[in-house]
This record gives sequence, C-alpha cells and structure tokens, in this order.
Amino acid sequence: MCGIVGYIGHREAYPIVLKGLQRLEYRGYDSAGIVLYDDEKEEIKLTKTKGKVADLKAKLEDEINTAGTIGLGHTRWATHGVPNDVNSHPHFSNSGDLVIIHNGIIENYESLKKELIKRGYSFTSDTDTEVLINLIEDVKKKEDVKLGKAVQIALNQTVGAYAIAVFDKNKPNEIVVARLGSPLAIGVGEDEYFIASDASPFIEFTNNAIYLEDGEMAVVRRKKGVSVRQIKDDKLVDPYIQELQLNLEQIEKGGFEHFMLKEIYEQPSAITDTYRGRLLVDEGVIRMAGIDDNLERFTNAKRIIIVACGTSWHAGLVAEYIFEDLARIPVEVEYASEFRYRNPVITSEDVVIAISQSGETADTMAAIKLAKEKGAFVFGVCNVVGSSISRETHAGAYTHAGPEIGVASTKAFTTQITVLTLIALKLAKAKGTISKTDFHMHLSELETIPQKIEVALLSNDHIKEVADKYKEARNCLYLGRGYNFPVALEGALKLKEISYIHAEGYPAAEMKHGPIALIDEDMPVVVIATRKGHYEKVVSNIQEIKSRQGKIIGIVTEGDTSVRDLADYVIEVPDTIESLTPLLTTIPLQLLSYHIAVMLGKNVDQPRNLAKSVTVE
Ligand code: M6R
Repeated sequence: MCGIVGYIGHREAYPIVLKGLQRLEYRGYDSAGIVLYDDEKEEIKLTKTKGKVADLKAKLEDEINTAGTIGLGHTRWATHGVPNDVNSHPHFSNSGDLVIIHNGIIENYESLKKELIKRGYSFTSDTDTEVLINLIEDVKKKEDVKLGKAVQIALNQTVGAYAIAVFDKNKPNEIVVARLGSPLAIGVGEDEYFIASDASPFIEFTNNAIYLEDGEMAVVRRKKGVSVRQIKDDKLVDPYIQELQLNLEQIEKGGFEHFMLKEIYEQPSAITDTYRGRLLVDEGVIRMAGIDDNLERFTNAKRIIIVACGTSWHAGLVAEYIFEDLARIPVEVEYASEFRYRNPVITSEDVVIAISQSGETADTMAAIKLAKEKGAFVFGVCNVVGSSISRETHAGAYTHAGPEIGVASTKAFTTQITVLTLIALKLAKAKGTISKTDFHMHLSELETIPQKIEVALLSNDHIKEVADKYKEARNCLYLGRGYNFPVALEGALKLKEISYIHAEGYPAAEMKHGPIALIDEDMPVVVIATRKGHYEKVVSNIQEIKSRQGKIIGIVTEGDTSVRDLADYVIEVPDTIESLTPLLTTIPLQLLSYHIAVMLGKNVDQPRNLAKSVTVE
C-alpha cells in the first residue's frame, strides 16, 4: 500500500511527480504530499494534505512556486497514525535537512523512537516513517557518513518492510532509495531518473527501468547514474536495466468513465492475450514453459495447495473444481493469511500455487516463503511482470492481463481462471485423465470465450435497469453451485467493496441450513443458474426463494425459459461447457456492482478503506 514517486533530472519535477501520484493513487488515497527542491533558490518546499491527490493539486495550485528539478511524492494508505495532514508523507528529520517518502511498515519503530527521544529527538506525527528519517539523521551525524551509508546503517537496525526514497537538501544531486518487501522501480532516462512504486509514472519518458531486488538500495545521481548495493552484505550489484512492455494507452481510461468499466470491457482481449502462444487448438497442444519444465513435479504431486487472498482466492476456488475434475489431483485452497499462521502440514511432494494479481500481497508472499521452507515446489500465477511473488516462486505463468488499476479486480480474475484452466488441462493430458476428444473440445471451447464475453457485455443496458431497481437494497445474496459457487462469492465481494451494500455468497444448497431465514420481499437474490451445472437443483432453490417472496435475478444461459418464469429479472450469457461458465457468469455480476456503485455516487475505482495491493499483513 502507498505509492511513492520521485524525480531527479533536468525537467520541472512538479508535473511529473503530480501525474505520477495520480497514476499510483490506486495504491492508497488517504492523504498525499509532495516535496520539491528549488535548485536556484536552494530551498526545499513541502505541501501535504489529508485526502486525495486532487486535494493536494488544489492546494498546490495556490502556490506561486512549484519550481525545482528534484521532487518526491507520496500517496498514502494509513497504517500508523490516522489519515491527517501531519501524518501525511513526506516527512522531515528534526534538522529539516533530510526528507523521506515510505511505503511499508517499520515494525520496531516504537523501540527506535524511545531511543531517539532519549537522544533529544522530537516527533510531530504518529508515523513509523518519521522515526526512520530521524534514525537516518542520527546515524549520519553520529557516524559522520554520507547519506547512502547512513540509510544503509539505519535500515540494518529496522525490522519490517519498506520502499523508501530519501533526499538531503545539502546534497541536492542525489536521491537514496531502498526496498524490502515493497516494490521500487527506477526509470532510467538521459541524465534523469524516475523513482516509483511501479513503472506507470514514467512510462512516457523512458522504457528502461531497474527493478530493485528485495534487500537492495541505490544512490541515484543526476548525472553520474545509479549505483546499487545489498543493504545487509554491502556488496555492489550490477544493475539490470529492463526494457518495459508497458504503454501509455494501457494505463489511461481510454474514453471509459472508470478504470473498472474499461477493465471489464478489456476481458475479451485480456483473455486472448492470456492464451496467445499457449493454446494451440489445431495442434492439440498447450504450451506453458513453467509447467513443461516442471511437469513431473506436478504430475507426481500428492496434492496441490492454492494460496491467495480476495478475488485471487476465488479464482483458486474455481481452479479447485477444474483440477480435481479434469486432472484428478486433490486440491486445497487456502487464504494465505490463515495458512501462514497455522503450522500447516506441507511436504516436498506438495505443489503450492500462489495466485496474485499484483504479485506484492504480503500474506501471499509470506505463505510462499513458508511453503518453500517446508520443501514444497511453489508456482506463481501473477499479473504484474517482475513483481516480488513472480520472483520468489520456483516457476510460474503470467496472466498477461495488462495493468489493472481499478481497486476491484475484474480482468485479473478471469485471466487467472484462464491460466489455471490451461494448467489443469495440460496436467490432465499428461496424466491421461482426460480423453482426447474431451481435451480437444475444452481447447476449442476456451478459444471461443473472448467472443462469448463480447456477447455477455451486450447486456450492459439491461443490467443497468436491474441495477436501478435494486440500488437501494441494504443486503444482497449471491447463490451458485459447483463451478459457479466461487463466482457467487466473487459477485458478492464486488458489490460490497464498491457499493458498500452488505452482500454474501453461498452455495445455493446451503440456503436451507440458515441463510434462507434472511429472505423476505426486500432481499434481492442473485442466482447463477446456467444450463450446464446442477440446473434442476438450482431451479428448485429458486422456487424456495420465490415462495418466501425473495426478489430473484437469474444469471441464465441464452434461451432459458424455466428460470425466466420464476425470476424478477434474468440476465443471459452464452452457452459453454460447465467448467468454463465462470468466465461468462462473472461478467454480468461485475457490471451489476459497477452500475449500482455509480448510481449510488460511490468512488468506483478507489473505494473507501481499500488499496489495490495489500503489502501489509
Ligand atoms: O494482488 P492480489 O491478487 O494478491 O490481491 C488480492 C486481493 O487483495 C484482491 O483480490 C482484492 O480482494 C480485490 N480488491 C478484490 O476486488
């Protein structure tokens, strides 16, 4: 959580840092701040405020002087200290010489703070970050060392996670950065450098970037380049400059009102990108290097354990059905946050699959480390290329969904399911648990999914009508069975997180064991009732709700009549094989939540209290 951005070079820093913060705002939006160094006046100027980057911009527009070719900016998701002006970053050291931006948590900040107070330091904020910058200042003075060395010594006294950028106004030609557990990229231009939590703030300036590894720091000098070293071992590292595949169009709204809507509509192309070069229907082959190179680990696995959080966990639940159904491998799906703390039984015969859009989720990362310690083979399914999780796992497959900026995951979910389906099919073929005909049928059907999603998206206007009808609901139930039970969970999560309406997902048959007591004429119940997958049973469940006056919104297969007769509204999706229905039934649920949230005037892309990547536990 939190986004950090910095610039040092020959351009005006302010517009670059401000735009960078707008692009990183998905990472946190409780408060924002910018510090600028005016080279001519040799002055440093800080502006920060509670609220969003737009509030910061409004505040800065009153400023006469936003000059300077060095700048640092921060957009916050509060951990230590409430979101207010004082707790906002950047933070100064007591002398006012050093300034820092920080994404992460310094866990031992209280003991460090006590020591610093004894040594005469005082603090204005409640943050761990203000402790860190004063620790750096204290080391710098005590040891009489340069800023880089002081940062290194100070970081070696901390416990926790960080991506930081530190600037000393007496040394205005360099910025010192470091990372452990939080991402940090350095954009490399001509005599200019960009620092950011991801590459989006600098994509129009350079395609070259250095991604610091965990435990590395760098001194970034305006004209003399970047020197990287390991924080603990003090070893110099040859920085690897990577060419980025990102383009500006991918990180802009492209005419859509919100990123979430754009990302919902991107799903046909995102899924095509996911299977491009992997799904070779004519040859009857699935090509995935990460699996091909480790095929025996998978086929010999006693079980697969899937670890993930939130929407990625829901994708894992869909995968449980498909792995067991097709490849006959037992699967357990775990919340990463629970798995890591409950002394799980893991052996070297287990394969652990970690699913994460961002590749930075702290709990998933910790679960991976634990599984590796216990000897399991760990495979990552990530979207963000080069992310921490993709580097920490033994092998993996990217989803290639492109940047997902809306906090509510949409295309990440469907592309994760696509990758997991490809893996399941590949393993089923290798293990001989699927017939040739069935295998081929799955491949051809998967290839048609993007087109079928296009068709599902045509219901948008109708879904808007349904949204208008139920936007005032206080509660909502989502029901599904089999492959569509996880979709019900995902539909409920989407509604809660962006509209703040209480919603629950249940397996349809579980209704009778308690939740049915909630049904009355004010309760909308979204039921996934596609023709393939326990259809008659679900229709019976709908009857039970109907008899109790519940309002029914059926997600049905094109041409369905039975549910139409019972439901208040139906939303159709094209027909497909059962295992692929989640890729279609998810679409109307995403659109329904989206429209309800828009109608309620909620901030769809940046829902309250949330952030896109949860880098704290
Ligand atoms: O980046 P990850 O996939 O690891 O993120 C996991 C969850 O934080 C994420 O899916 C979250 O639940 C989304 N906001 C849901 O829309």
